[in-house]
Amino acid sequence: MSVSKKVFIKTYGCQMNVYDSARMADVLAPLGFSRTEEPEGAELVILNTCHIREKAAEKVYSELGRVRQLKEQRKLAGLETKIVVAGCVAQAEGQEIIARAPMVDLVIGPQSYHRLPELVARGMQSVETEFPAEDKFAHLPERAARRANPSAFLTVQEGCDKFCTFCVVPYTRGAEFSRGVDAVVAEAERLASSGVRELTLLGQNVNAYHGDGPDGRAWSLARLIKLLAEMPSIDRIRYTTSHPRDMDDDLIALHGDEEKLMPYLHLPFQSGADRILAAMNRGHSAAAYETLVGRVREARPDIALSTDIIVGFPGETDEDFGETLALVDRVGFAQAFTFKYSARPGTPAAEMSQVPEEVKAQRLERLQATIENCARSFDAGQVGKRLPVLFERKGRKTGQVAGRSPYLQAVHAEGPDSLIGQIAEVDIVASGPNSLTGVIKSEFAWREPNQAAG
Ligand code: SAH
Ligand code: SF4
Ligand code: F3S
Repeated sequence: MSVSKKVFIKTYGCQMNVYDSARMADVLAPLGFSRTEEPEGAELVILNTCHIREKAAEKVYSELGRVRQLKEQRKLAGLETKIVVAGCVAQAEGQEIIARAPMVDLVIGPQSYHRLPELVARGMQSVETEFPAEDKFAHLPERAARRANPSAFLTVQEGCDKFCTFCVVPYTRGAEFSRGVDAVVAEAERLASSGVRELTLLGQNVNAYHGDGPDGRAWSLARLIKLLAEMPSIDRIRYTTSHPRDMDDDLIALHGDEEKLMPYLHLPFQSGADRILAAMNRGHSAAAYETLVGRVREARPDIALSTDIIVGFPGETDEDFGETLALVDRVGFAQAFTFKYSARPGTPAAEMSQVPEEVKAQRLERLQATIENCARSFDAGQVGKRLPVLFERKGRKTGQVAGRSPYLQAVHAEGPDSLIGQIAEVDIVASGPNSLTGVIKSEFAWREPNQAAG
């Protein structure tokens, strides 16, 4: 009964949204929808939105303007188009979206994606932003077994109870929830059988993971990773995003013990000033963060550290900002994501006294220059080393393939497309602003997926 139809999904925001977009495509497949990269040919357009900063949220409305034109053009040609707003803006703004953009057919929050087919089929304008009692994951279909990118996201935890005073996530994603170990393993197996070799376990607070284990107990993230690492065709495991408060001893130790756990850790610290950390309700001091980093480095000395930093949080003085710069210098990050504080309606920090926009802009510029130096020197430090690279796609130039080092750096090398999906030893010969250049070492080091070593 299914007729072939196209769905165009545009994804904003974090990796959880990337994962959710894939799951929305899966849930729509039985209705005859396949994914397209061209909105012009799509019967269904889904904007999977992000509410984290004002700019991100406002982008949706300009995109909706374009989509409306498209809908009108298609209508002239006798074609119908349905417009869906999903994700965190949908959750946060609900009905307001339809008031501002009446051509939107459906507004659906992240906890309701399993109801997408029913709501699309019903064809009525509607808003679905309840936090339902049932577990959406249990109601989403199994992921389609298609030849996937060799690296895949797998959401294991969702939501957040930490209520940092600047952040909308606890409101848009709801309370913290961990998927059960069996469900995660089953999904990992399906991914592996479709050619996936690297798993990135996702959660807003992934290291707070405490899913039900087969023994009826709550398992930690470290325990889950150990189990997934036993899968022969999974070669690499990553996880993101972690909160400093939830880095337990087992997880730290695992970075030293588990070869498949990649030497990369994204650990946001937000500010180097204790006063600001307290106002943010982060629950850790700058010194505690540094101690933690020291322990992780003891377990895995070569680990690449990444972080998130906010400048211009309400009340941040030049001195406070100086402490952020100093912490960045002392830790030495391989990568960092930096943001100007953006006041979000309904969050406590939005009510505090704000830092002027120009000050935020200046601080951001200074911080970015410092980070840039750190990151460049980390990358330059890899030149002359031989690293295993998981090749994921064709490179920018013909005859090139592109992949990732264990430290998550992009690596380009001359090589055949047949290398995509393989891990090869690569001699790193140069480092540029966005990627490393390598020379593929030995054909004999290539390992076919799902094949026993030796
Ligand atoms: N769960 C993750 C972060 C989720 S949001 C964690 O706890 O670290 C990703 C990043 O966006 C945050 O780490 C923070 O640096 C930034 N961010 C969140 N809210 C923001 C706001 N209101 N203004 C500016 N940046 C913000
Ligand atoms: Fe937001 Fe803080 Fe929760 Fe991270 S820990 S999602 S920054 S409230
Ligand atoms: Fe944005 Fe929602 Fe992710 S607000 S960062 S898409 S959890």
